Amino acid sequence: MSSDIAKRNAAEAALALVQPDMILGLGTGSTAAIFVTLLGERVKAGLKIICTPTSEATDRLARSLGVRIVSPDELSSIDLTIDGADEFDPALNLIKGGGAALLREKIIAEASDRMVVITDASKEVATLGKFPLPVEVNPFASELTRRRIHLRLEAAGLATASSSWRMATRESLLHTDGGHLILDISCGAIPDPARLAALLDDVPGVVEHGLFIGYASEVLVGEADGVRRVLPAG
Ligand code: 5RP
Repeated sequence: MSSDIAKRNAAEAALALVQPDMILGLGTGSTAAIFVTLLGERVKAGLKIICTPTSEATDRLARSLGVRIVSPDELSSIDLTIDGADEFDPALNLIKGGGAALLREKIIAEASDRMVVITDASKEVATLGKFPLPVEVNPFASELTRRRIHLRLEAAGLATASSSWRMATRESLLHTDGGHLILDISCGAIPDPARLAALLDDVPGVVEHGLFIGYASEVLVGEADGVRRVLPAG
């Protein structure tokens, strides 16, 4: 099955949740981009909606399609955010940040009444951690921060974790929309994502991390011939 078809099916199902006059958060990544493109078609057909983006890339795409974009600073809350994910577990804990937009994605998700995740089935895991965990780090003292992060990883039982700075090119580090670095951490299975999230939150140079605990209301998993709706287990 083409993952493009699966992603499109998930994006179409998410589009059905959009009501006129909603305030909508727009995620980042290839699946979110399909959603934004479909939304643009609905806007051209007359749908009135206000959107706020989670990255410069999504901002540019949405504006190019005629979608009305406002700054999050003009909003107090957001009705619905549609975003992708790199992994989700049965409790709908997520790893996000494969597209380096995790900080803005988490700010928008936290302010949203509902966050609906759109993915294909390859993102579904029993335990988070196969996908390297992205951590957004302030460039100041970044190597010191990296060592402080590894101490927390040890405390979380992840002593063998390794990490690397994400590169934009072979020679230059990637900088996020906010000017920060991304440390990708190969953790292996993360036994207690909430505990690891709390440990990482405690490191001053960590701007944000890609563990989204308790944000997703549901996941729409695109399949070859439709969509499977996943709600949090338990
Ligand atoms: C960006 C993200 C993306 O939502 C995540 O990487 C999924 O992307 P895609 O839909 O391309 O697989 O977290 O920071």
